[in-house]
Amino acid sequence: MTIEDNHMSTNGKYRILFVCLGNICRSPAAQGIFQSIVDRAGESDGFEVDSAGTYSGHQGDLPDRRMREAAASRGYVLSHRARPVTSMDFLDFDLIVAMDDNNYADLMHLAPSVESSRKIKRMAGYLTGHSISYIPDPYYMGRDGFELVLDLLENACTNLFRSITEDGNGTCPVR
Ligand code: 4NP
Repeated sequence: MTIEDNHMSTNGKYRILFVCLGNICRSPAAQGIFQSIVDRAGESDGFEVDSAGTYSGHQGDLPDRRMREAAASRGYVLSHRARPVTSMDFLDFDLIVAMDDNNYADLMHLAPSVESSRKIKRMAGYLTGHSISYIPDPYYMGRDGFELVLDLLENACTNLFRSITEDGNGTCPVR
């Protein structure tokens, strides 16, 4: 039994929302990476994957060109359009994953109930083999920053997917 088991939405899909500040770098990359893992595992029918930002200034924008290019070189096509987090997201999604501590604090503040606040997790909590406790904002970094973020997100998304699909009893809560 995983933490995530308790929050299955009624349509049978497990719904995950990735959240960062602008929704143009980290969270759309996490969305694309996680969707790719889901698709490769043949679990596309079992998941709904989305992303949003705590800041609305980039609403409607494609992901940052630097992130799209870095992601494309790893085979991820990022076509999400930025949108802000809404209060409905806390009802609609089973799991809400924050990229850093500021995103986490903002989400905890926005959560309309204690129950919905329990859906909020830190992305770095799914990292293995890394000592960093957050996904750094690459917006003011160079190319290396974007590559580091993609490395971290690939690791965390793989472990997050496993945490949902492997519950220790060999059963998958999304099937
Ligand atoms: P993100 O990166 O939160 O990973 O999408 C940022 C994008 C834009 C800004 C900050 C961070 N900004 O200040 O416009």
